[in-house]
Amino acid sequence: MSSIANIACIDALAVEGKRTFIRVDFNVPIEGGKVTDDTRIRAAVPTIRHALERGARVILASHLGRPKGKKTGFSLEPAGARLAELLGIDVVLTDDCIGDGARKVVSDLRDGKVALLENLRYHAEEEANDEGFARELARGVEVYVNDAFGAAHRAHASVEALPRMIPVRGAGYLMHSEVKALSRLLGQVERPYVAILGGAKVSDKIGVLENLVGRVDALLIGGAMANTFLKARGLGVGTSLVEDDKLPLARAILSKAQERDVQIHLPKDVRVGSGRDATAAEIVDADAVPADRMILDVGPATVAGFRDRIVRARTVFWNGPMGLFENDAFAEGTLGVARAVADCAGFTVVGGGDSVAAVARANLGGRFGHVSTGGGASLELLEGRKLPGIEALRVEG
Ligand code: 3PG
Repeated sequence: MSSIANIACIDALAVEGKRTFIRVDFNVPIEGGKVTDDTRIRAAVPTIRHALERGARVILASHLGRPKGKKTGFSLEPAGARLAELLGIDVVLTDDCIGDGARKVVSDLRDGKVALLENLRYHAEEEANDEGFARELARGVEVYVNDAFGAAHRAHASVEALPRMIPVRGAGYLMHSEVKALSRLLGQVERPYVAILGGAKVSDKIGVLENLVGRVDALLIGGAMANTFLKARGLGVGTSLVEDDKLPLARAILSKAQERDVQIHLPKDVRVGSGRDATAAEIVDADAVPADRMILDVGPATVAGFRDRIVRARTVFWNGPMGLFENDAFAEGTLGVARAVADCAGFTVVGGGDSVAAVARANLGGRFGHVSTGGGASLELLEGRKLPGIEALRVEG
């Protein structure tokens, strides 16, 4: 498991007057040249501000999208513009992350100034964790800080090979708080401990299911992944999305839970429709889904049951929507779970991606113990795996 032992936090690093490379995760949604959700950028601001206030010469680097080594689209320009607004200072964007242009910008940087390198994934060597590319990025760098928790599960050059080349290295505030909050879920927690898992596929959550089933008191399952569990219990699920090849796994998880006295709660009732673009939902019992209907959300009795477990819990982890919440007719289950987690007085963690979007949509910001900026990264950490971007920051001592 990844923990923060032997990893310096940025406030313990001497960054004054130093060229400080900060790996951030500015992989944000952009439409029409504008950032449509700046959560990840705002989350990195405390680290950047701290470095600037201490007089560091800040070099920011991030990936955006998956340009697969080609310099087409996916420019970080809109992210740089949003950061400049948030910081209230100029953010220079280099034409490329390595090469003469970038080198000149970096060597001309003054204390307390910031430059953003253009998309690291314009070079295939980034994803290949290429040493030579990492050496190019390392030129002139005196301090390395990783605040890109969302990319910590990627063994990529700016995340893995580069920090190993810079003896003075550590984690930014965001990385630090993410690792601390998520690793707490794998240690001694206050009970009852409830995990709520949703989303489309069981296959995305196998590792987390297997790891959490031995730790939690109750596992509440919703979203399309619940369909596979309902079918594994012998119920008909109409035309719903099901991973038939995961039925044996679902059965194994159900029986492991039973052996360990962990309660697994599946939907009791569901909202169904004729298809994903249906505009109205019908509510039916989970054991009475019509053959021509698709399950697209959990029903009100399920939300009430889940809510009861959630508000009484002392520790809660939630990842994945309960239904197709981007369609208003099927959003209620996810929003109801979001409200229940917000109303829980215990330690609550919302992990990544769609569940975070649901929290934003329900206007519940600020009512959770921790909302992760990492989708895949938070899941891998909760699988109990070591994340390359965290391991590379460790300094023996
Ligand atoms: C994310 O959005 O989960 C991270 O930025 C990682 O992006 P990736 O899945 O393209 O590596």
